[in-house]
Formats: sequence, structure tokens, C-alpha cells
Amino acid sequence: MNKSKLGLPIGTTLDRFIKRKEEEFSYATGELSQLLRDIALAGKIINKEVNKSGLLDITGGVGGKNVQGEDQQKLDVVANIRFTRALKNGGMTCAIVSEENRKIIHLNPNCRYVAAIDPLDGSSNIDVNVSIGTIFSIYKRISPVGSRVREEDILQKGTEQVAAGYILYGSSTMLVYTTGRGTHGFTLEPSLGEFVLSHDSITCPENGKIYSINEGNFYKFDPWVREYIEECKQNQLSARYIGSLVADFHRNMMKGGIYLYPNTEKDPNGKLRLLYECNALGFIAEQSGGLATDGHQRIMTIQPETLHQRTPLYLGSAKMVEKAVSLIPATL
Ligand code: AHG
Ligand code: MN
Ligand code: MN
Repeated sequence: MNKSKLGLPIGTTLDRFIKRKEEEFSYATGELSQLLRDIALAGKIINKEVNKSGLLDITGGVGGKNVQGEDQQKLDVVANIRFTRALKNGGMTCAIVSEENRKIIHLNPNCRYVAAIDPLDGSSNIDVNVSIGTIFSIYKRISPVGSRVREEDILQKGTEQVAAGYILYGSSTMLVYTTGRGTHGFTLEPSLGEFVLSHDSITCPENGKIYSINEGNFYKFDPWVREYIEECKQNQLSARYIGSLVADFHRNMMKGGIYLYPNTEKDPNGKLRLLYECNALGFIAEQSGGLATDGHQRIMTIQPETLHQRTPLYLGSAKMVEKAVSLIPATL
């Protein structure tokens, strides 16, 4: 049998993998394991919706609604409903912050964990059959179990994440996650309906040949960003940009590359959200040997002030990120 670096066979189911990891912590209560299983379940449900999104569009176009009134909704709203419901029913989450909800969603106050989610990442690709994703971060609440969750429970630095990951709905569907002991990838085996270990202890190459940025914004970028792009061209790097952060990041982590979403004058904090996009991918990147920074500090050390805060993001292969941000002038 093909043994993975972790000593667990490739093909081990996610459930078994999570259980084995839990056994390594004598103090583990099993709650986080259950929460990860809830997320995997949500991923499978959303995967089903994603797979039939073309059909949903037809239904929506005709003006039809199902009994729950969901058919006409956009897939990202459907994903939000599915994800929230799975975490609620799983019973391990006391609150969620989601891209799709302005305020905190309060669940069972007797639970220890809060989740930050981007239920469907890559909205512009939903209708055109291009890879999209789901991103999640898990934190332990600060306030006492049993009390109402407060904003401070959610507004924690990325360094406090106990787990984070994403589900990529691509040519195959993958769940990639970390609990701070490496980054591991599981591929959905569709006939079994199970995520199975396919990529253990993923290592992001230190250097790569890919740069990913929305170059249409070239003239809006700071001079140092333009200089870096010019350098990428001079070095004949490949430009690859899907417009789904999860998919762009995943490719770059596997092959070696850098993802950039800089600030501009119009958007001084860039576009991407700290709590449910950047922190999770920062954690995954670092656990695979890569880097994530806003240009001035590690993404994961930024103290969030608001739920939907944005940040510039430079993410991926360590040497490429270091090189890019070394061009930032001291005055910026
Ligand atoms: P979301 O679909 O969750 O709103 O996120 C979209 C994000 C991200 O996935 C992607 O990398 C980026 O927006 C693309 O932005 P541009 O179209 O500005 O390049
Ligand atoms: Mn997103
Ligand atoms: Mn989204």
C-alpha cells in the first residue's frame, strides 16, 4: 500500500485521518474533530449544488422556487445556507461570521468554537463552470462557554486559528486543511461520497514560475507592484489568474508561485477579507512552507478591527513573496 509521509495510507478517509490526529492529543475532547467533519459534510453538500449549478440557473431563469424558496438564489447564498445549517446541526459551533451576513450568526452558546467562512469564493466564475471554492477558519472563543458570543471572540488574530482550510470545486473536489501540523489534502471520491487522503504534508516550493494578479489593474497599482510585474515578465514567468482565490492559491502552492492582490488608491486595503479569506490561506500557506503578508506584516499577526475588514495580500512561495515585498519603499 502507498504509505503517506504521515504513516497513514494514501486513500485513508478524512474521518479516519481526523480520528487518528485527535488521538495524538491526550486532551482532545473530540469537538474540533466533529466540527471538521461538519465542514466536510457541508463541502459535500455544496459540491452537489455546484455540480448542478447550470441546471439551477435554468430553474432560476424560469422563475421557479423549491419548497424552501432556494432554487432562485445565487449559488453563493445557497452555499451560505448549506454551510450554516451544517455547522448548526453539527452542534459544535457557537457563532459564525460569513461573507454573506453583515452580522455574527449566533448558534449554540454552549459550544467552544467560532467559524469564519467564505461559503463560495470566486463568484464571478460560478456561472461559467470555472473552479470555485469555500474557505473556513476556526477559532476557540475567548468569552466563557454558555454566554452570548461577542465580537472579540471573532476578532482574533490569525495566529489564534485552531484549524483552517478550503474546499476546491475543481476538476476534482478537494478539501485541504491544517490544524497547525502541516497542510493535508483530501480528494472527494464521488462514488463513495468520501474525502480520501491524496496529498499529505503538502510542501509549497520555495520558488516558482507563476505570478497571479489581476493585471487589468496595472495602472492603478503602486510603482513597486508594477516594477515587480515587469520583473516577472523579464524573467519569463507564467501569468496565471483564474479570479478564484482558492483555485489560484492551490495551484501556486502545488507548483510554486505568488498571488498578489494589492491595495490601490481607490481601495487602500485591497479587496480580500482578512477573517474568512486571507487568514485561512495564510495559515495553510505557512504550514506548507510558504508566506502570507500584507506587505508590512504577516497576515496572521494583523489584529482585526471589524468583521469584514479587507487587507492587501501577497501569498505563496516564500522566496517570491520575500522578493516582491522587498521592493516596497520604506516610506510606504
Ligand atoms: P468572492 O467570490 O468570495 O467575493 O471572492 C472573490 C475574490 C477572489 O476569489 C478573487 O481572487 C478575487 O476576488 C478576484 O478579484 P478581481 O476580479 O478584482 O481580480
Ligand atoms: Mn472570496
Ligand atoms: Mn464568497
